[in-house]
Amino acid sequence: MSCLSWSSLTVLAGVLSVRVAAWNSTYYNPVIPGFHPDPSCIFVPEEDNTFFCASSSFNAFPGIPIHASKDLMHWRLISNVLNRPEQLPTLAITNGSTSGIWGSAIRYREGTFYVLTTLVFDDQPETNNSRWDNMVFTSVDPYASGAWSQPVHFNFTGYDTSPFWDADGTVYVTGSHPWEVTPGITQTTLDLATGAVGAGYQYVWNGTGGEAPEGPHIYPRDGYYYLMIAEGGTGLNHMETIARARAVGGPYEANPANPILTNANTSEYFQTVGHADLFQDAEGSWWGVALSTRSGPEYTVFPMGRETVLFPVTWEEGEWPVLQPVRGEMSGWQLPPTNVDVPGEGPFTNEPDYLTFSPGSTLPIHLVHWRLPINASYTVSPPGYPNTLRLLPSKLNLTAYDGNYAGPGGQTLIARRQMDTLFTYGVNMDFAPGAEEEEAGVTVFLTQNHHIDLGMVLLPYTNASTNMTVLTPCFRFRSASYIAVPPTTVTPVPTAWLDRTLHWEIKAFNITHYSFAAGPADAYSQMQTFGYGLAADVSWGFTGTLVGIYATSNGGEGTAPAYFSEWTYVGQGQYRD
Ligand SMILES: *[C@@H]1O[C@H](CO)[C@@H](O)[C@H](O)[C@H]1NC(C)=O
Ligand SMILES: *[C@@H]1O[C@H](CO)[C@@H](O)[C@H](O)[C@H]1NC(C)=O
Ligand SMILES: *[C@@H]1O[C@H](CO)[C@@H](O)[C@H](O)[C@H]1NC(C)=O
Ligand SMILES: *[C@@H]1O[C@H](CO)[C@@H](O)[C@H](O)[C@H]1NC(C)=O
Ligand SMILES: *[C@@H]1O[C@H](CO)[C@@H](O)[C@H](O)[C@H]1NC(C)=O
Ligand SMILES: *[C@@H]1O[C@H](CO)[C@@H](O)[C@H](O)[C@H]1NC(C)=O
Ligand SMILES: *[C@@H]1O[C@H](CO)[C@@H](O)[C@H](O)[C@H]1NC(C)=O
Ligand SMILES: *[C@@H]1O[C@H](CO)[C@@H](O)[C@H](O)[C@H]1NC(C)=O
Ligand SMILES: *[C@@H]1O[C@H](CO)[C@@H](O)[C@H](O)[C@H]1NC(C)=O
Ligand SMILES: *[C@@H]1O[C@H](CO)[C@@H](O)[C@H](O)[C@H]1NC(C)=O
Ligand SMILES: *[C@@H]1O[C@H](CO)[C@@H](O)[C@H](O)[C@H]1NC(C)=O
Repeated sequence: MSCLSWSSLTVLAGVLSVRVAAWNSTYYNPVIPGFHPDPSCIFVPEEDNTFFCASSSFNAFPGIPIHASKDLMHWRLISNVLNRPEQLPTLAITNGSTSGIWGSAIRYREGTFYVLTTLVFDDQPETNNSRWDNMVFTSVDPYASGAWSQPVHFNFTGYDTSPFWDADGTVYVTGSHPWEVTPGITQTTLDLATGAVGAGYQYVWNGTGGEAPEGPHIYPRDGYYYLMIAEGGTGLNHMETIARARAVGGPYEANPANPILTNANTSEYFQTVGHADLFQDAEGSWWGVALSTRSGPEYTVFPMGRETVLFPVTWEEGEWPVLQPVRGEMSGWQLPPTNVDVPGEGPFTNEPDYLTFSPGSTLPIHLVHWRLPINASYTVSPPGYPNTLRLLPSKLNLTAYDGNYAGPGGQTLIARRQMDTLFTYGVNMDFAPGAEEEEAGVTVFLTQNHHIDLGMVLLPYTNASTNMTVLTPCFRFRSASYIAVPPTTVTPVPTAWLDRTLHWEIKAFNITHYSFAAGPADAYSQMQTFGYGLAADVSWGFTGTLVGIYATSNGGEGTAPAYFSEWTYVGQGQYRD
């Protein structure tokens, strides 16, 4: 496998001692499955030897999830950096299904956690030159969403901004200058407290010639500044490259062995590997994280989008780091002992959902909306309806105006990430639509242009036996996607099911198909499947699928509430090759 003798490697620990770490672990990727792209991770000995990761959230709110682990295997969602609309009101008006919060960098310094990130406004640079809003969030308690600060905005033309504290205390921010201007990695100084940046910026490295040099991080080591970046774009040509310099501003000399990490031009199931970050564990062993899609080189079925993968790294003194290629089954350094004693507000990534929306409870922090929610549209256990979540319809449906924009009026959607290749999602619903096109139901949602829905909707329906057209509650199954979608089907709700609580179910029953079913909640034996969605229809772009519920009047005036209860999500298997 390698000419190096792993077991005899000597690694300089973060602390002063020299240790020999064993290379004897086996573990499985992705370590943080589902829509968790652009990972940035750190190890913080001062916080009880804990690893922390941040990932991108695009238009999802709450956003910038922080996961923590003590053993690198069990990751808990401990907080969301972006958790109060007041922190970033402009998230309500992003234009573009892949706009919103892009890559984040998390770093720790003297008791404070820093997260730098970028809010991106639209897909059309020519229509908006002020589309990059860079900012710093801080917290001294990463386990509590509410402890994350208001952002301090700073002027940086670009994205993927990452901070670096030089030995003299100067803070540099290094980021990606956008492709529509002149691509390259640029740098300036940054006052993290005020957002003041230095006069102008300089290009420090333009990479090895791959498209979209981005995701830079700087690591000081052995008298060098190592600058690691992603190139090739976040698709099949994605790769990680590295350069080093004796001064933080360069000149940077590229590693002759670049790229140091890629699955491009392979037949691996894990593709698009890149956008990495490196850190050391308590034993001094180096590890890295990156994003990857479980897509194979075909790159057509990857509904969970870009997920967080972990790989071991060897980095000998004075040498370039060597990153192990990403696979589903990995071997690497001895892992920290299993430890799930991690505080925090959210679930571990492998926990199923059993949500009852009990009176007095709040919505779990792993449920998200698309852009900022209208609070009144989501009520836990409203008067007279204990143990339900009441949704009020948005005028806009999940596609909204043009599949890109929705604006501050919002879209009523609440969902969780799909985090398993195979899963069953279930929820009960009481809903009596009163106006034409009033609709509520369940969805697999990737973006406004890519979603698969099964809803109950009031539609004019011609009864074949009477030949009369009347407004009738119907099941409507339909998909939106850039590629061909299965035909929309409309089926009247059986009369015997009206005024009863219905159970709804979405199942990823194999890797390419979802089934959408419904039936009386007190008679599962009558459940019927109303449509089969294609995972390929929700495999695209930068985000990953969400699974959840929605309510809309489809542009009409309907206001009928939908009451949801007994929300479950159970993972039933991960495909790793
Ligand atoms: C790996 O090696 C270490 C040190 O020898 C040992 O303590 C640990 O149990 C080993 N782990 C496995 C999975 O073999
Ligand atoms: C909605 O609720 C959140 C969380 O409680 C709060 O921060 C926000 O101010 C509320 N928004 C409005 C418009 O009331
Ligand atoms: C959103 O962007 C699209 C182009 O992608 C444009 O046609 C539309 O006018 C924009 N909408 C708003 C509200 O800015
Ligand atoms: C660009 O986006 C900003 C932030 O949303 C907005 O204030 C500004 O009006 C937009 N400009 C154009 C030309 O769309
Ligand atoms: C932001 O920085 C750019 C590049 O240094 C500069 O041209 C621009 O004037 C700055 N904008 C503001 C608002 O300071
Ligand atoms: C990177 O590209 C920019 C724009 O073409 C150029 O101005 C700069 O000199 C290049 N920088 C380096 C370090 O190569
Ligand atoms: C993959 O192969 C293509 C075509 O030969 C080449 O252009 C590209 O550089 C390769 N990518 C990597 C990361 O090796
Ligand atoms: C169609 O009409 C028949 C006869 O009146 C009735 O029994 C049936 O329930 C109607 N179907 C629907 C879907 O309304
Ligand atoms: C249903 O009504 C339409 C319009 O009145 C008529 O053209 C059609 O023949 C009728 N069909 C049946 C099966 O009665
Ligand atoms: C998944 O099931 C569907 C429907 O039965 C079938 O058409 C498809 O080929 C299956 N996909 C795989 C990968 O087996
Ligand atoms: C969304 O709503 C618009 C009207 O607001 C409607 O034209 C469109 O068909 C709906 N599409 C989907 C996929 O929900």
